[in-house]
Amino acid sequence: PTIQRTDYAPLAWTVRRIDLHFALDPQATVVTSRLACARNPEAAPGPLLLDGEALETLSLTIGGLDPAPGAVRRGETRIEIDVEGDEVELEIVTRINPQANTTLSGLYRSRGGYFTQCEAEGFRRITWFPDRPDVMARFSVTLEGDKAVCPVLLSNGNLVEEGDLPDGRHYARWEDPFPKPSYLFALVAADLVALERRELTASGREVLLQVWVERGNLDRCEHAMESLVHAMRWDEETFGLELDLDRFMIVAVSDFNMGAMENKGLNIFNAKYVLAKPDTATDVDYEHIESVVAHEYFHNWTGNRVTCRDWFQLTLKEGLTVFRDQQFSADMLARAAGAEGDSARAVKRIDDVRVLRAAQFPEDAGPMAHPIRPERYQEINNFYTATVYEKGAEVIRMLHTLLGPEGFRNGMDLYFSYHDGQAVTCDDFVEAMSEANGRDLDQFMRWYAQAGTPRVAARGGWDAADGSYTLTLTQHTPPTPGQTEKLPLVIPVAVGLIGPDGADLPLQLEGEAAPGATTRVLELNAESRQWRFVGLSAEPVPSLLRGFSAPVILELEEDDARLAFRMANDSDAFNRWDAAQRYAERVLLELGAAAAEGRALGVPVAFVEAFARLLRDDRLDPAFRAQALALPGEGYLLERMQPADPAALRTAQIYLGAELGRVLAADWLALTEGLVEPGEYRYHPADAGRRALINLALRYLCAARVPAGTGLARRRFESASNMTDRFGALAALVHGALPEAEGALAAFYERYRDDALVLDKWFALQAGAWRRDAGATPVLERVRALLGDPGFSLSNPNKVYALLGSFFRANPGEFHLADGSGYAFWADQVIALDAANPQVAARMARALENWRRFTPVLREAVRPQLERVRAAEGLSPDVGEIVAKALEA
Ligand code: ARG
Ligand code: ZN
Repeated sequence: PTIQRTDYAPLAWTVRRIDLHFALDPQATVVTSRLACARNPEAAPGPLLLDGEALETLSLTIGGLDPAPGAVRRGETRIEIDVEGDEVELEIVTRINPQANTTLSGLYRSRGGYFTQCEAEGFRRITWFPDRPDVMARFSVTLEGDKAVCPVLLSNGNLVEEGDLPDGRHYARWEDPFPKPSYLFALVAADLVALERRELTASGREVLLQVWVERGNLDRCEHAMESLVHAMRWDEETFGLELDLDRFMIVAVSDFNMGAMENKGLNIFNAKYVLAKPDTATDVDYEHIESVVAHEYFHNWTGNRVTCRDWFQLTLKEGLTVFRDQQFSADMLARAAGAEGDSARAVKRIDDVRVLRAAQFPEDAGPMAHPIRPERYQEINNFYTATVYEKGAEVIRMLHTLLGPEGFRNGMDLYFSYHDGQAVTCDDFVEAMSEANGRDLDQFMRWYAQAGTPRVAARGGWDAADGSYTLTLTQHTPPTPGQTEKLPLVIPVAVGLIGPDGADLPLQLEGEAAPGATTRVLELNAESRQWRFVGLSAEPVPSLLRGFSAPVILELEEDDARLAFRMANDSDAFNRWDAAQRYAERVLLELGAAAAEGRALGVPVAFVEAFARLLRDDRLDPAFRAQALALPGEGYLLERMQPADPAALRTAQIYLGAELGRVLAADWLALTEGLVEPGEYRYHPADAGRRALINLALRYLCAARVPAGTGLARRRFESASNMTDRFGALAALVHGALPEAEGALAAFYERYRDDALVLDKWFALQAGAWRRDAGATPVLERVRALLGDPGFSLSNPNKVYALLGSFFRANPGEFHLADGSGYAFWADQVIALDAANPQVAARMARALENWRRFTPVLREAVRPQLERVRAAEGLSPDVGEIVAKALEA
């Protein structure tokens, strides 16, 4: 059944208070729920509606009595109750089986403990309730369980009572002072220990911060705690937003479908985004932890205090919160970098745009394309997408660009002053921005309604006679499924003009008295517009979309020389990186075409020279150089290859990587020697940048099999003092398909066989291995074999993402085999996963949604496998929606 955005109607009945009692038991947890319900004066009259799923209902009373005959209509997933009067008390007792809950939605077990995940619609798997975000109730929760199995009993808000019970049981009662939707409910009952810290908020209230983990992991919590304190401070300083509870808890759990969840006062995290110590976590893991901890913390205001009216508004909280966590991380990096702050910010921006281009652009070009505020869905869990999150964050960023930091802050203040404690829509947010800034944002709202990545074509005209440069920008958004017509958007385009000497020129538009800044934001708000820059003495080189000022594809004709010029000179670090990416893309797509046609391969000398200049420029911050010298991602390139031919592209990538390693071997080696090696490991952006650059050098040297480089990789692998160095060296050996890779993989396994999170890296590396040499085991066969490894488990999402996700989604060159064997394996795995965990299965299913872009041979091989999945017995709505869309489009 498809749900439409425009079908929204408020419920006739709402819930004011809910008192929950859990008698925890592995297979028969009894949940007693007392609901104080009230008629909603804003809604049309009607019955009281409750949602439920996989519940065994033991009793239901209304006002303490058995319901009158006919007053209660019970369906499989819906209860309707006719009620007289305006208020009523219900008591409902249900029994659930957490042990058997493999979906990881609702109440489930993980390593002996009890945990919940309720967003989006998991609460209905715990008890009957109007399970939608516009129903906000005050929760009080009593947990009762076996003291030996779960000595720790946690829920949202404040602990108000606890004590012992007979038979080795105990209880705790929690009260959340803030009304909240059911998706923010959480409980944890497990054998955990906490790292604790007390902090004062800006207004001087003392708060207790806790990070709860399994015994034995206390030495891996420090970074998560630090990140939490930094996030608290940042939100106080940047937005004037304070923690509103006396206690804030983070809990790590090993089995979790997503990254983390912002339950009020009790954030539950995938352990991967909490646990870190130098021996087990890489710099990138440290970065992710900082940003996910901040993201969930920031949700307390953008998501919890002001929540979503319905799930179509998801980007209201997710786009905004991603934008906030991106700004936070950029500020943290800039602060650590001191004088190099701008470059550090650019590196973060590059990271974010890489993610957008790799994950969101293909989504916007395929059968799942949807606006950041979707119009319809079958399964809401399929809409926690790169579009809602990452493109949603870009839309907020454009508002920030158009209104300026102060205007944006004023809009946020107004938004909270109007909507604190409410469940609202994206319109409410944009209206607050509009009102606070006296600016009409009606046209801007189209970003919420239109799917597809806009193209912006740029044309420049130089008039030597009067020293003027005319820039013409034209926008066009290609049709997407169900949305053929597109209207012009408001697109902020940050522009600079570079003079022949490489320096930026002050910009003066026709009609202006004097030249001003060197970067300006032009607003493209019609299909086409022109700007005339005057007072120029020579033809400038345009640098457009600086800082990636809008989530669009910029189409600008630039020859190789111009790209090389911008690679060397663009003052905007983002665009300097982007020029390198564009040049590399050109070279790779040409090599890919040559490989597909069986022509000889060769790398243009001019490209190698431009690349070498970046490599040799040691005034550039190492973290930036590591970004600029990394080739564009395979997924992004495949989207731009017509038809997409993963095998040919992989040949091109391997060839180019090896050539750059071989020709520039001396430079790579000099670089590994010349960089000041950080001392004892600490997570610091400057150190991380150096480590990233050295690891990249190893990657090129191993790709080219330069003996001095492979030897260095082996030595670094053996003697590393931290995971970043150890894993970087291992990855270089594996991707280079060097003979020593097997031994190194075995040694790594021996060392970390009992560490689930580290083993995930080991699985992911093998499943994502770049190249195989004649006679070596194909990656498909290796992945098949690894399914049987004692460290692997199909019921743990992290394991599935590491092994199957890395293969299906991050290794197209090995997955898309012409004989279709990869696809048959994919179908088997999706069907097997779906029987236990539809959300995880649906994520794997999405790996083939853009199949129509592939070569005819591959398309022929994909279709029967998609059809096989579609026809599988008992297919979930989650996977059903994905494969149906893939086949229909
Ligand atoms: N709100 C969480 C976050 O972004 C994500 C929860 C997603 N859950 C789901 N079942 N799709 O922080
Ligand atoms: Zn979120």
